[in-house]
Amino acid sequence: MNGDQLTSDLHVKTIDESKQGDVFFQDALVQKTDGKKFYIESYGCQMNFSDSEIVASILMDVGYAPTRDLAQSDLILLNTCSIREKAEETVRKRLRTFDKIKEEKPGTIIGVLGCMAERLKKKLLDQEKLVDLVVGPDAYRDLPNLVSSAEGGDKGVNVLLSREETYADISPIRLESNGVTAFISIMRGCDNMCSFCVVPFTRGRERSRDPLTIVAEAQELFDKGYREVTLLGQNVDSYKWTHPQSEELTNFAQLLQLVADVNPLLRIRFSTSHPKDITDEVLYTMRDNKNICNYIHLPVQSGNSRILKLMNRTYDREWYKERVESIYRIIPDCAISSDIITGFCTETEEEHQDSLSIIEFAQYTMSYMFFYSERPGTLAERKYEDDIPETVKKRRLTEVIRLQTQISHRKNQADIGQTFEVLIEGTSKRSEDDFKGRNSQNKMIIFPKQEGLKPGDYVHVKIAEATSATLKGSIVE
Ligand code: 5AD
Ligand code: SF4
Repeated sequence: MNGDQLTSDLHVKTIDESKQGDVFFQDALVQKTDGKKFYIESYGCQMNFSDSEIVASILMDVGYAPTRDLAQSDLILLNTCSIREKAEETVRKRLRTFDKIKEEKPGTIIGVLGCMAERLKKKLLDQEKLVDLVVGPDAYRDLPNLVSSAEGGDKGVNVLLSREETYADISPIRLESNGVTAFISIMRGCDNMCSFCVVPFTRGRERSRDPLTIVAEAQELFDKGYREVTLLGQNVDSYKWTHPQSEELTNFAQLLQLVADVNPLLRIRFSTSHPKDITDEVLYTMRDNKNICNYIHLPVQSGNSRILKLMNRTYDREWYKERVESIYRIIPDCAISSDIITGFCTETEEEHQDSLSIIEFAQYTMSYMFFYSERPGTLAERKYEDDIPETVKKRRLTEVIRLQTQISHRKNQADIGQTFEVLIEGTSKRSEDDFKGRNSQNKMIIFPKQEGLKPGDYVHVKIAEATSATLKGSIVE
């Protein structure tokens, strides 16, 4: 397995890897505008990809058109991630490759957006001399002004965090879209203060978005032919909106219901759930609405109560196990996935074994697995020594990955012979003759195309083969 994480298409994906359908969409967009072009590349979490769609909308409003061709772009933006050291290194390396572009076309403006912009602020301008713009996650409305000042030769910096900004009124431009699935941001920021995490510092305080604007966005997507939305937030279970006039409160379960009511043909997913906040009300809402997918991303981080306390996760092993049991009791065919960190400060071998045993207990369909990477300014960096040698962190990570792969494989094997409802997302990467799509449990399924079917259609697929990553089957009536 590679580096410090098990990558997935959701975590590291850039705009230039996109598929043909988008090129068509992009060309349509380009025709609408003339003049300057921007290129944007996104790193990190789904929220960052979703933010890039907001950035695109803001730039297109002032006449910029998107392009995938670096050589053609007047403005190059990297929407960056700070979660682990390696994520920042990747961006730094990428920035260095722009040296040549700047040499050949000195007027090109290069900007860093997102979490690295927020974490490093003006330092980025000194460290990476070719950067002209540094814009934090809450300052994207200011981009047109900052770009103008950069065009005038000044460096543009805005890293102010906000307590209110949710970009609720901005209609995202679906840059990388397959036309079937889309993200909707329902909240921003994070108030959790996990001791290992930079997010509360880079994305600021938690704030929720007006539910009416969320429902309107889901409806608009549905009307355009989309059939699946993923509601995004760092901790969706703490979504909370108080109506300014009536003071009526909408919680996450109620928001889920509102979005599920948009249309029975619109599938709903959400990410990320926090074990301390996920309520039975959410689970019952999932159970009672067929179009809310039976899949929960419920990061455990560690299976040991002492480590969870040091991580400031505010739940312990028993609490987590109870939540998992409740999920399987209320929604028996629910899939659960997780995030796991190995080698956190002072973690012993026995405590690491607790992480292995909770993976076995929870029977995750998949996990994102990382070794601990100390981040400057976090609570852990200030309070604890990063005392587990890298070789040990990596060996523990290998053990975690091995176990998870076995469980994924075993669970996928158990799907052989079963029939699932699948939403067709597009053509398989491997074969022009196959479609790809997901079942409710978020498993990717590959199956031969059939005349008359297209992305956005629902089909029933009977599973014939399985690996630890994919299921293969064929359409049944
Ligand atoms: N080191 C390693 N992994 C981390 N994550 C967050 N911060 C760190 C860190 N400092 C992981 C957590 C989180 C996921 C998005 O990234 O598992 O849930
Ligand atoms: Fe990376 Fe976290 Fe920022 Fe997402 S919120 S881009 S994962 S640091």
